[in-house]
Amino acid sequence: MDKIIIQGGRPLEGEVTVSGSKNAALPILISSLLTAERCVYQSVPDLADIHTTLRLLSGLGVKVDRTAWAGGGELMLQAERVEKLEASYELVKTMRASFLVLGPLLARFGEARVSTPGGCAIGARPVNLHLKGLEALGATIEQDHGYLAAKASRLRGAKIYLDLPSVGATENLLMAATLAEGTTVIENAAKEPEIEDLAAALNKMGAKIDGAGGDIVKIEGVSELHGVTHRVIPDRIEAGSFVIAGALAGGEVSVKGARLAHLDAFLSKLKEAGLMLTADQDGVRVKGGGNLKSVDVTTLPYPGFPTDLQAQTMVLMSVAEGVSVITETIFENRFMHAQELDRMGADIRLEGNRALIRGVKQLSGAPVMASDLRASVALVLAGLVASGTTEVSRVYHLDRGYEHIERKLSQLGAKIERVKA
Ligand code: UD1
Repeated sequence: MDKIIIQGGRPLEGEVTVSGSKNAALPILISSLLTAERCVYQSVPDLADIHTTLRLLSGLGVKVDRTAWAGGGELMLQAERVEKLEASYELVKTMRASFLVLGPLLARFGEARVSTPGGCAIGARPVNLHLKGLEALGATIEQDHGYLAAKASRLRGAKIYLDLPSVGATENLLMAATLAEGTTVIENAAKEPEIEDLAAALNKMGAKIDGAGGDIVKIEGVSELHGVTHRVIPDRIEAGSFVIAGALAGGEVSVKGARLAHLDAFLSKLKEAGLMLTADQDGVRVKGGGNLKSVDVTTLPYPGFPTDLQAQTMVLMSVAEGVSVITETIFENRFMHAQELDRMGADIRLEGNRALIRGVKQLSGAPVMASDLRASVALVLAGLVASGTTEVSRVYHLDRGYEHIERKLSQLGAKIERVKA
């Protein structure tokens, strides 16, 4: 397995450009299943999770054309001849988002068989809300040897209230409802920018979705959808991770392409901590190296503070002045980075879903192990500011969500390299 080795303590300086959003691209690529026509997607990041999605789609019979994709180009998909209506255990266990094929397959072909996701590193993550919503749309769903077999001759619009504003459930239902007969209303929908982006792509395909990005989304079903050209929004989590990199290291970093409106809760917390942030024409500039003070953070559904930036923020609080309390309300087991950070000299105490972080003067490099995607980037960030060498193993987690991260950080002046296994 590859490792990333970082010599800490070097200032970061210059510009870094944010890639397309992984979490927006995944459902958008999957939404190509809703039409027989050609779909062209731009700004799709070159990441392990995207490759898994393409493997999943081509396994179903979708024609995938990667020829113009390299270097931020266009990815073309056409689901003209879908031969299989099943997402295997192998794929769903590798990447939970594979579960999102259920809604579109059911809506267009009247049946689908998708493996249940099972547990994952950051908690149980059930899919009950996806299923409840699809049943409300008229699907019958049965458990079958670890798979969920769903059927519906034609989905019918319905009113669906989500007990929690689940991102995945909102996306699955949004896609399914586009081809249902009649009107669907999703209440307590997730409001993440990625949902808005998916709805924008679907509307360009001829869907009639109103209110995406708000609590209540209304979808008027249509009989068919068409091809589309769509550019995926920039990745707000990658942008936030680079803002923290800039904050940790002395120097000045411009994070280009970041949409500040998508990062409101996060950026205002960092300002409260005393970070010097300046909005510029095409993103945000961060002046690092100053003394930051501890702030308390609670993760919440959008527009609240994103759980996907919790681990990275914990690194910043580890070297801030004072004591900070980070409360994780979205996932039940998302503090695995804390123990690794302690091994680098941080002072973190865990109490249930709260982490108490007492800022220390300096972290020190150590061999550490990544446990999930966001935890792995947190360890890389810690390595940038720690004294000496940090060796992060299990970096395949990092490759799921951060495009060319070593190259981007090296260009800013970090001393970081990948050692191939
Ligand atoms: C998505 C993101 C992930 C992010 C998360 C929360 C993708 C590919 N992943 O994950 O990066 O951390 O949103 O912002 O976009 N839940 C249920 N029942 C369900 C569905 C969810 O109880 O049917 C619970 C989950 O266990 C979790 C919470 O709801 O505690 C939020 O999950 P959800 O919003 O669905 O996250 P994902 O879509 O899996």
